Amino acid sequence: MTTLTTTEAGRFSRISGIGGYRSEHAVPNEALVGPIDSSDEWIRQRTGIVTRHRAGKDVGVLEMSEEAAVEAIANAGLKPEDIGGIIIATVTFGIPTPSAASALTTRLGTGPVPAWDISAACAGYCYAIAQADGLVRSGTMDNILVVGVEKLSDFVDPTDRSISFLLGDGAGAVVVSSSETPGISASVWGSKGENWETIRVTNSFLSLKDDPEAPFPTLRQDGPSVFRWAVWEMADVARQALEAAGVAPEDLGAFIPHQANMRIIDELAKQLKLPESVKIGRDIADNGNTSAASIPLATERLLRENPDLHGKLALQIGFGAGLVYGAQVVVLP
Ligand SMILES: CC(C)(COP(=O)(O)OP(=O)(O)OC[C@H]1O[C@@H](n2cnc3c(N)ncnc32)[C@H](O)[C@@H]1OP(=O)(O)O)[C@@H](O)C(=O)NCCC(=O)NCCS
Repeated sequence: MTTLTTTEAGRFSRISGIGGYRSEHAVPNEALVGPIDSSDEWIRQRTGIVTRHRAGKDVGVLEMSEEAAVEAIANAGLKPEDIGGIIIATVTFGIPTPSAASALTTRLGTGPVPAWDISAACAGYCYAIAQADGLVRSGTMDNILVVGVEKLSDFVDPTDRSISFLLGDGAGAVVVSSSETPGISASVWGSKGENWETIRVTNSFLSLKDDPEAPFPTLRQDGPSVFRWAVWEMADVARQALEAAGVAPEDLGAFIPHQANMRIIDELAKQLKLPESVKIGRDIADNGNTSAASIPLATERLLRENPDLHGKLALQIGFGAGLVYGAQVVVLP
């Protein structure tokens, strides 16, 4: 029997460039506390959030994606026509089909490359990195653009006490390229469907069709359950990712968890016994929780503020609605 010709073996992948989009509209806690009977002090103490950035009316998922992507492609030393595929991780595009990624091909001028969106909420970026890593290593593509982007402010109910005050907007993008040495470790990823309801929108868009009086879907969560799951189970997932990568905590330059709550970030760092030398992504203080955008934005900031981290190892872990999670160790671009 004829043996099938497949793509090249022995290839590796790495992150070759990074970019981000942050809105200039910083929203302080004080601006949100009235309708939820909260306070600046409560939000700071319980979450570590001081401000979150929210995009203006004319800036949506596509505009933010384009800004972050242009920066990432240039940072990788590439041109749009070098990009062989686009994955956008988002849950807030608002258009079920066609995809945001397909529209981004023409905005960037990549040519007619494969382009698709994925829905994995706050784990979306790590899911997309897992896909891009596999596609590059299999030889299917040489350079893939990965964008994590959210306009969460469109799905916020200002009277909701459970999640509204955490959320911000933004986009982070990276290019995953072929590499002579390994730059992305095996991903540890999964789901916990029995907790499907723990973070959710209030109602389906289809309910608006049946009942014009139905509310526009907005986000809700069972915060304490998410908090416990994140602290206990995600510490274990992070350890598994380190083990899969053959990396010890002291080998890391940075730890970049999903920016959900500063107390979760601190607790994970403690449980992983990270030495002082490991820099920790703490973008949440002024950027809030931007779901799929949070890890690439926190990475972009860490690299800007600590140029010595270029080329060092970072453990990244995303987790959120689904419930879903994903983690891997990457070489920072
Ligand atoms: C949402 C979150 C900040 C709430 O903090 P918490 O410490 O768990 O708060 P609890 O819900 O246990 O409530 C504690 C008290 O604060 C009050 N409270 C709850 N929400 C409040 C708010 N927004 N403002 C002021 N008070 C609030 C409660 O009524 C309760 O009061 P009581 O002690 O008098 O009964 C926290 O659970 C969290 O961050 N969870 C992680 C979830 C997450 O980040 N998800 C995003 C997707 S990954």
